[in-house]
Amino acid sequence: MVLAYSGGLDTSVAIGWIAESTGAEVIAVAADVGQGGEDMDIIKKRALECGAVEAEVLDLKDEFAEDFCLPALRANALYMDRYPLVSALSRPLISKHLVEAAERYDAEIVAHGCTGKGNDQVRFEVSIAALAPHLRVIAPVRDSDMTRDKAIAFAEANGLPIDVNKRSPFSIDQNVWGRAIETGFLEDIWNAPTEEIFSYTSAPNAQAEPDEVVITFEKGVPVALDGQKMSMLRIIEELNRRAGAAGVGRIDMVEDRLVGIKSREVYEAPAALVLIAAHMELENVTTERELARFKRGVDQRWSELVYDGLWFSPLKSSLDSFVDSTQDAVSGEIRVRLHTGQAVITGRKSSESLYRYDLATYDSEDVYDQSKAKGFIDIFGMTTRLAAERDRRRGK
Ligand code: ARG
Repeated sequence: MVLAYSGGLDTSVAIGWIAESTGAEVIAVAADVGQGGEDMDIIKKRALECGAVEAEVLDLKDEFAEDFCLPALRANALYMDRYPLVSALSRPLISKHLVEAAERYDAEIVAHGCTGKGNDQVRFEVSIAALAPHLRVIAPVRDSDMTRDKAIAFAEANGLPIDVNKRSPFSIDQNVWGRAIETGFLEDIWNAPTEEIFSYTSAPNAQAEPDEVVITFEKGVPVALDGQKMSMLRIIEELNRRAGAAGVGRIDMVEDRLVGIKSREVYEAPAALVLIAAHMELENVTTERELARFKRGVDQRWSELVYDGLWFSPLKSSLDSFVDSTQDAVSGEIRVRLHTGQAVITGRKSSESLYRYDLATYDSEDVYDQSKAKGFIDIFGMTTRLAAERDRRRGK
């Protein structure tokens, strides 16, 4: 069996728990998607000490940035107009590597540590079903009654090398695209978040001076910051640091989970929010109106599909083709001012720009023929006028 291993209490206990209840040999696979925190070698060692027959640590940061965060950016992916899909993006990537590990070790079962109340269980299982329909999936926390108390008792009885007191009262999931903080006192939706729950962002007033950054895009791909070429991963890391220092990227929302629950979620996603705002603005400058209007609907649908665990699905794949086809002219530079928790766009520049000064200006260089507007409006408004006249006759 291959287990998606995080190094925390639940998945550490799951190793022995699964081995005891199924007799399977457990291969622990830990994915580094830029969550920071503990050293990955320590996590690997812990898996082995907890009874895994093999443990692998996979550095997936670049793949995550390029194959998951980048498509999300090109689709301006914000679920419910706000959440940049942090966890929803990492699950299909981790699933892909669990499936590959299962093939390498000839495993028949894949296990994950999700509960039965969230979206992540769906994302893992639907992704695995899409990639390897023959694999069986088990979730000990959800399916075999591995409650928190039992997990702690199991860890203590078996002398597992985990400090059960070090657990935070929050459920946190983080990667380079952002950080999700749930549960604890946040479950009362009247309670404001306190400063110490944040780690990717400083308080909005912490930095006295504004920071200004210029982001260069080529065909919808961010390629440089302040003129310096960088990989997608570096750009995300840099912007997390700079925007985070200016307090940019905090989100506090009530969210509709796929399983029907409304839940309170606090996020920090400095780079994701800055990049999406900049990318959207460059699209405003370079994308023809009808295409732009239609794409907004596609972007929203794309976000919902990915949120709902359908990364590997026919519709998502076709929408990807559409989004790709819209990015050819999305090239240029966007200047963003980062200050007091806000990312404000202050400049745009593009060789593919559809903005025409000579059409927009009210100065003497104006080439737009205003006399044509009257006839345009007469005909454009005709159906509305006809319907209004008819309804007046009917006394409506
Ligand atoms: N609500 C978010 C989502 O469904 C975040 C989930 C975070 N997962 C966690 N185990 N804390 O994408």
